[in-house]
Amino acid sequence: MKKELYQFEFYRVNNRTELPAEDVDLLVAANEAAQQAYAPYSNFKVGAAARLINGKIVLGSNQENASYPVGICAERVLLGNIGVQFPGVAIDTMAITYLLVDRKSDSPVSPCGMCRQALSEFESRVNHPVRLLLAGEVGDLLIVKASIDLLPFVFQRHHLH
Ligand code: THU
Repeated sequence: MKKELYQFEFYRVNNRTELPAEDVDLLVAANEAAQQAYAPYSNFKVGAAARLINGKIVLGSNQENASYPVGICAERVLLGNIGVQFPGVAIDTMAITYLLVDRKSDSPVSPCGMCRQALSEFESRVNHPVRLLLAGEVGDLLIVKASIDLLPFVFQRHHLH
């Protein structure tokens, strides 16, 4: 028996003025996407914005449904949009943020397990990491260099053969 260790690095950003302008722009785009989310059941409006390696910005927001499990997270809406608009084009960075009804969101949001799985498939499909900016409207923001870092022991297509 051998003990092994899984570790990953991430950055915590306390002062957003330290961010490059491109990241700030992406956070603004994610915030705007969140404003258009359809989340009448949770009132938790999520917005995601990706900058592709071709420089294009693609958006996603959560789309809920009266039949709750039918709802889709912002991240997977975004990945679907890329699949239609720019198939095969890699993501450089994806910003994810959210809005609350009664106050400003102030801690980073983190993609759910299903979205981590979807992000992993996207990374391996285009063979390029998805850098993540995880943010509330205010407060600390986290930067993860590859979404796969958030899903150790991921199930991938090679397991099927
Ligand atoms: N949600 C997202 O869109 N992305 C996340 O990263 C976390 C959760 C959505 C799903 C649901 O519409 C609402 O937020 C509450 O869970």
